Amino acid sequence: MTNQLTPNLDPRALAGLLSGKHLIDGAVVPAASGRTFDVVSPATREVVAKAAYGDATDVDRAVSAAKKAQVAWARRPARERGKLIAECGRVLAGHVEELGRLVALETGKALRTESRVEASVLADAFVFYGGLGSELKGETIPFNPNMLSMTMIEPIGVVGAIIPWNVPLMLMALKIAPAMVAGNAVVVKSAEEAPLAVLRVCQILNQILPPGVFNILSGMGPECGAPLVAHRHVGKVTFTGSVETGKIVYKAAAEKLIPVTLELGGKSPMIVMGDADLDKAVDGAVVGMRFTRQGQSCTAASRIFVHESIHDAFVTKLKAKVDAMKMGDPLDEATDIGTIISIQQYEKVQSYIKIGEAEPGAKAHRCSKAPTDGKLKDGLYVQPVIFTGLTNASRVAREEIFGPVTCVIKFKDYDEAIQAANDTEYGLAASIWTRDLKWALDATRRIDAGLVQVNQNLVVQPGMSYGGFRSSGLGKEASLEAMLEHFTRKKMVMVNLQ
Ligand code: NAI
Ligand code: MG
Repeated sequence: MTNQLTPNLDPRALAGLLSGKHLIDGAVVPAASGRTFDVVSPATREVVAKAAYGDATDVDRAVSAAKKAQVAWARRPARERGKLIAECGRVLAGHVEELGRLVALETGKALRTESRVEASVLADAFVFYGGLGSELKGETIPFNPNMLSMTMIEPIGVVGAIIPWNVPLMLMALKIAPAMVAGNAVVVKSAEEAPLAVLRVCQILNQILPPGVFNILSGMGPECGAPLVAHRHVGKVTFTGSVETGKIVYKAAAEKLIPVTLELGGKSPMIVMGDADLDKAVDGAVVGMRFTRQGQSCTAASRIFVHESIHDAFVTKLKAKVDAMKMGDPLDEATDIGTIISIQQYEKVQSYIKIGEAEPGAKAHRCSKAPTDGKLKDGLYVQPVIFTGLTNASRVAREEIFGPVTCVIKFKDYDEAIQAANDTEYGLAASIWTRDLKWALDATRRIDAGLVQVNQNLVVQPGMSYGGFRSSGLGKEASLEAMLEHFTRKKMVMVNLQ
């Protein structure tokens, strides 16, 4: 149970070492086909590693290993599994710097403001779930004194986890830590843009966990993700990503009648009433919009409804705050904002900025300054954009951009703001900013979203039941209930005592 891998703080060297590998049944292995694909650092556009190009053969190897390992894993006492998962968290805590640097290299997210923070949340999620092993409790049912009737909580078996690139470490942890504590074995399909740091986590944890309990594959969605969902021995799929792919996954899972958890997109509203603490609301908008992550967050406060009495002051202050943020090398401690993940996402974001600018009356306020020096001049930097003059009907206000683009929309009265906030296909998160308790509490009831915050825009915390309504997904993550509801099944047992 010792960690023999010493942290490697040179992310390029580490990327090279991890090149071209899956991790199956406790061993790093190439794809069966021998194929690889490039991993590109978005800050310089250089190829920093290769990743194994997984296909159905690799999926079958990984799922078969998981199926075999799961039997003995599930037979261990639940608290013992929990202790091992907590131990995983403690070992990962010693790798925060290494993992932060690696995720910064592959995703372009700034180390100080994002990547290092994410790596510590990863470790914390394992510690949190490690303590919940003894909560896998059943119930007794008082049918009859001559009968013992009870329910038992069992693991499902093999869980397939499909993860995106925006917060790969944290999103993986929120899926696999509870799945494994509950007695499942997991096969993760990493995102094609960010396969390295999650592979490193798998390598570190395979020193602690029995082989086959935690496997990871890299590859493309249709060629590696789809066969994972379709595999006959995968009994549950947990997915985070786009609505479009979420629907494909849901349909494929329906063919097998297996349960699915979907964490999908968002277009989260933030309502700022005229009586709000303006400076706090502006700070909340910067955090909520995840400007430090280039807005690449499903929770991003991408629709900010501001009362007309404070609209202009709010925009001036918000613009000044975002202007003061430094765009630069993701690995530089001075950098607040790094890059967009990929050229596809870069082009998608640019096209939305053009769509917004073409709207009558719209103004795009471009903030901060992209680096122009050295290799960074080729990086996928997008200046944060604050739109004013748009309505909630514009495409920029309706569709998920997943980039550093928010719109500040004026409103006259509270009811109008609530109505506009709910006028969206999404229902992931929302916030209201006011000193008036009546407005605050009324909004928590009326806003149609899975997370409503008052006077804050906190990020996901271990223990909260996080998950959206409507097109934002199905099911919850991050909590005890999420583990019980989504990674276990309930068996009814009746014993005749007569
Ligand atoms: P995506 O939903 O296509 O990819 C997410 C994961 O699903 C990746 O691992 C991908 O390989 C996998 N995948 C793709 N097709 C699949 C299939 N047929 N079967 C199984 N797995 C499959 O998202 P993508 O293309 O990276 O980004 C597109 C948009 O999705 C973004 O602009 C953003 O709006 C949204 N998105 C939302 C995220 C969230 O946190 N809710 C995260 C990432 C993207
Ligand atoms: Mg896609």
